[in-house]
Amino acid sequence: MTFTHRHLLGIEHLRPEEIVTLLDLAEEYVALNRAPDKHKDALAGLTQINMFFENSTRTQASFELAGKRLGADVMNMAMQASSISKGETLIDTAMTLNAMHPDLLVVRHPHSGAVDLLAQKVNCAVLNAGDGRHEHPTQALLDALTIRRAKGRLHRLSIAICGDIAHSRVARSNIILLGKMENRIRLIGPPTLMPSGISEFGVEIYDDMAEGLKDVDVVMMLRLQKERMDGGFIPSEREYYHRFGLDADKLSHAKPDAIVMHPGPMNRGVEIDGTLADDINRSVIQEQVEMGVAVRMAAMDLLARNLAAVRGAA
Ligand code: NCD
Repeated sequence: MTFTHRHLLGIEHLRPEEIVTLLDLAEEYVALNRAPDKHKDALAGLTQINMFFENSTRTQASFELAGKRLGADVMNMAMQASSISKGETLIDTAMTLNAMHPDLLVVRHPHSGAVDLLAQKVNCAVLNAGDGRHEHPTQALLDALTIRRAKGRLHRLSIAICGDIAHSRVARSNIILLGKMENRIRLIGPPTLMPSGISEFGVEIYDDMAEGLKDVDVVMMLRLQKERMDGGFIPSEREYYHRFGLDADKLSHAKPDAIVMHPGPMNRGVEIDGTLADDINRSVIQEQVEMGVAVRMAAMDLLARNLAAVRGAA
């Protein structure tokens, strides 16, 4: 098998062939999820704990569904109501949970690096469900699966990632993954929302949508991450929409068959026109959600297969 990791902390740790292995397995789970009986016993007997220190709708729901469909016992910790609010540290919480013998720990945290730290302290597989502005590996993998299905390949494509790049872990994981698979990546957004040093990643940078979208195969929009901004990064949402919001007119610069993506949650009328987001001829936003469940099933399945070997060697 070509996937030998103990944790899934970031795309930066994966080799291209491991990404392909995971996506191929996810394809099998897409078929399972469309069948009347959606169960398989890949995680039977295992315990999965979801710890979300930041709000989430689709990521948490799809990890929960993924675990249940594969037969795991799944527990969602309500972190706002937990001992963290009484002052317990992240590591103490992790050690407490570790003593309950979980097998898979799914963690989202507002601080970059928090999930890596936690993974060093526990005796189970840890999956990063988003840490600060660092990485969100399962999102990049589900985006990759969506692109591969729509375009028939995952290499030599021209892909535009647009909007709030600076605060986005989705952008970061996607830039790393799509770069590893040898695509041409363009980042489009106002200079205030471009991370410093980003040109080292081998991307092209634009601050004009018409120019940046010219002849691209994929248009990936991002939410303005207001919760991670501590000042005025944009003049106003109206102005932002005018310059960077995706509508049919701006999309006309891309290839005629270009697909439109958004990880959700969407701000309609801020980064994307609502009618375009709902246009099933262009938008694959609902498919991204569907692929999310399959990719998370594949990721947990692969990590669970490695778990026995890792623990046996310990
Ligand atoms: C993203 C996240 O949480 O990073 N959402 C998601 O997982 N689907 C993007 C966002 O919050 O804008």
